Amino acid sequence: MCGIVGYIGKRDVAPLLLEGLQRLEYRGYDSAGIAIAGKSGGLKTVKAKGRVRELEARVPKRFTGTTGIAHTRWATHGAPSDDNAHPHLDAEGKVAVVHNGIIDNATELRAKLTADGVEFRSETDTEVLTHLIGRSQADTLEEKVRQSLALIEGTYGVAVLHADFPDRIVVARNGSPVVLGIGEKEMFVASDVAALVTHTRQVVTLDDGEMATLKADDFRTYTTDGARTTASPTTVEWEAESYDMGGHDTYMHKEMAEQVEAVDRVLRGRIDDRFSTVHLGGLNLDAREARAVRRVKILGCGTSYHAGLIGAGLIEELARIPADGEPASEFRYRNPVVDPDTLYVAVSQSGETYDVLAAVQELKRKGARVLGMVNVVGSAIARETDGGVYVHAGPEVCVVSTKCFTNTVVAFALLALHLGRIRDLSVADGKRLIAGLRKLPGQIAEILEQEPEIKKLAEEYADARSMMFIGRVRGYPVALEASLKLKEISYIHAEAYPASELKHGPLALIEPAMPTIAIVPDDDLLEKNRAALEEIKARSGPILAVAHREQEKADHTIVVPKSEQELDPILMGIPLQLLAYHTALALGRDIDKPRNLAKSVTVE
Ligand code: G6P
Repeated sequence: MCGIVGYIGKRDVAPLLLEGLQRLEYRGYDSAGIAIAGKSGGLKTVKAKGRVRELEARVPKRFTGTTGIAHTRWATHGAPSDDNAHPHLDAEGKVAVVHNGIIDNATELRAKLTADGVEFRSETDTEVLTHLIGRSQADTLEEKVRQSLALIEGTYGVAVLHADFPDRIVVARNGSPVVLGIGEKEMFVASDVAALVTHTRQVVTLDDGEMATLKADDFRTYTTDGARTTASPTTVEWEAESYDMGGHDTYMHKEMAEQVEAVDRVLRGRIDDRFSTVHLGGLNLDAREARAVRRVKILGCGTSYHAGLIGAGLIEELARIPADGEPASEFRYRNPVVDPDTLYVAVSQSGETYDVLAAVQELKRKGARVLGMVNVVGSAIARETDGGVYVHAGPEVCVVSTKCFTNTVVAFALLALHLGRIRDLSVADGKRLIAGLRKLPGQIAEILEQEPEIKKLAEEYADARSMMFIGRVRGYPVALEASLKLKEISYIHAEAYPASELKHGPLALIEPAMPTIAIVPDDDLLEKNRAALEEIKARSGPILAVAHREQEKADHTIVVPKSEQELDPILMGIPLQLLAYHTALALGRDIDKPRNLAKSVTVE
């Protein structure tokens, strides 16, 4: 949520910052801005409401310098506007600040500063911090920033530029990611490695409560209390090219196509044929501990929550451990009973989602064991958890999640198989499921080949005002996720219901103008699902079934390859990603950047 990028070195900074902002735009895209330290002293800024390309159009010709910071915003305090765009400047125009996160006591501080005669130019919480730094009497920029941060409550990832200290950028982190990129006689900073990888793969991720001073040929890290810290650079595994669109029209399209190789990657090196199980190196849970688990509770938000629901089903089926999923955002506020025999699993693509992180912190405070199911290596949630499973989907840029969802579900199948084989899952079932897992990449490729037909169906349904998604047991979370995907990118209203609940209410909505998308696997519930289709047909509701064979009652069927029945949910959602995609395309939506959304929600 919101993107920060900064650079100090010898190169012309504005093009570098614009390129970095473009790579971070998926984190927020309602306004953007740049501040640079000009050669002749003083700061120069340019800001624009809207996308980075609108900012680019406004950058004047002589906007040169070799040090600067920039930001792309997802509005929290104050509507998107030129004034509310970052960077914010202090009264004298000497301090520029870009900030991610929320300053909780901004109203109070603003009132005090206003009483002291400060005139605010924006409605943002960030401007408060800018004035605090500007008014600090400390001698060094580091001390000015430190003193000011001590006065604020809340979360931040910040980068500060000061006209009187043009040889440095000072950055700090508390709850919002800050990553330093180490180059040759140049340093970068960003809220996300996406903005760094084209320049350097050597990075340092700051911890909460940590600050850093960046100079062209040097950097140092220290705590907000001033104590030096040791920063050990790590190498980013993801290739710079994996952030490009690779010939596709959208990131979403590219990422759906990448599911074949991504699923292959999450399986790689983890299957143990000898014992018909899987090895998960990062779990930090020995067999005895795994056997002692009496419940599994899975927490996540949005699509990751849905992946967790499928994961809970898999764990219950394969390991026979009671398991359920819950939105992390709800869990953390309901004073949950934390049970020592429960294994908690926090799911997050980004590893940054604040509600998930806060749930993890609350659990840890209460002494629980928490595993992470995360895509971004070294992210906050990965670091806060006791162990976990990386989902190895590679970078995901489109705001809505596709390949990461699929890989997370596969990673849950691995976890369920591992826990199952430690408990009562037989060798034969282990073998059967492993064979099923190995077939997944090829089966996903088969589904993706149906894109032209799915596109036609999408065009047929695109004028619907509302759609119903139904599924039963394993199919229900698939319906939930498919309905979320459709709403997120097409803005068509969609409901997801367990098929079994239809006649308890939602059947009232069924009519010719309300298409139903039904998940109808060839499993032991097939007849029950068919009965639901009958009920809909009897009310003249159009039906699109996702099934393992043609469904007579449906107007259309998308046939997906049959997997082992426990693994069916992994495949059955994939055609519905394509359906949402082509519906949104038919409606002319901005697929990679849906309105009002951002990829990483790092605020409450
Ligand atoms: C945001 C995004 C969703 C995403 C959710 C969780 O709401 O718009 O697409 O599913 O965050 O993100 P995470 O990174 O924790 O998986």
